[in-house]
Amino acid sequence: MRRLIAGNWKMNGLASSLAEIAALRELTGKAACDIVVCPPFTLIDRAVERAKDSNLAIGAQDCHAQQSGAHTGDVSAEMLANIGARYVILGHSERRLSHGEDDEIVLAKAIAAHRAGLIAIVCVGETRHERDEGRAIEVVGGQLRESIPERATSADLVIAYEPVWAIGTGLVPTNEQIEEVHAAIRQILEERLGSDGRSVKILYGGSVKASNAQAIFGLRNVDGALVGGASLKASEFAGIISAAV
Ligand code: G3P
Repeated sequence: MRRLIAGNWKMNGLASSLAEIAALRELTGKAACDIVVCPPFTLIDRAVERAKDSNLAIGAQDCHAQQSGAHTGDVSAEMLANIGARYVILGHSERRLSHGEDDEIVLAKAIAAHRAGLIAIVCVGETRHERDEGRAIEVVGGQLRESIPERATSADLVIAYEPVWAIGTGLVPTNEQIEEVHAAIRQILEERLGSDGRSVKILYGGSVKASNAQAIFGLRNVDGALVGGASLKASEFAGIISAAV
């Protein structure tokens, strides 16, 4: 499967950061994998402009479930599609934790993303406590089952497994732990989407860097990465991309 490497800039980036998009475009050229960068809302349209005519896609980090209306401060999936975004990250643990987003909300947002023609990157992942209790698969499986739209396909859905305890901490699960969760996700995708579930990309996220990317990409059922901190510098992100091809 063609790999997907996605960068999540989170709440980072000013106009000057657009230089990273231009640099990434140069560094990755015709990389044989799909690449998406998700900057903050404020930079999306300019990032789309910088990435024009390259294999670099631009995405967003969230969207509202409604198309329009009285939702101060929110941005709809249609608005994102209208300025050239192609992907949207949904259900990131930072939004689940600090914005109270539950599976029902994530599902509604994923349906909205599909309505607007965007590819939804749905994030799932257990906390340290849940893993220590031996509940990682149960938690991830529950989130997945509740957040995937009924009509999703491999063309409009990507899953990102991000253990909460691995995000921004430098901690990475063992290969066995990653493989175990990715295999469980694959099984649920096949149950839900039939044979097309085999083609849905499953990304790993949590402290991915150029130095550990190759080992992670060598694992079965790992189809790429969702990268936070290491996506902010084009040279480091390009290192991860070259490990994927
Ligand atoms: O969405 C990406 C993410 O949460 C992982 O962040 O900084 O650990 O790569 P980081």
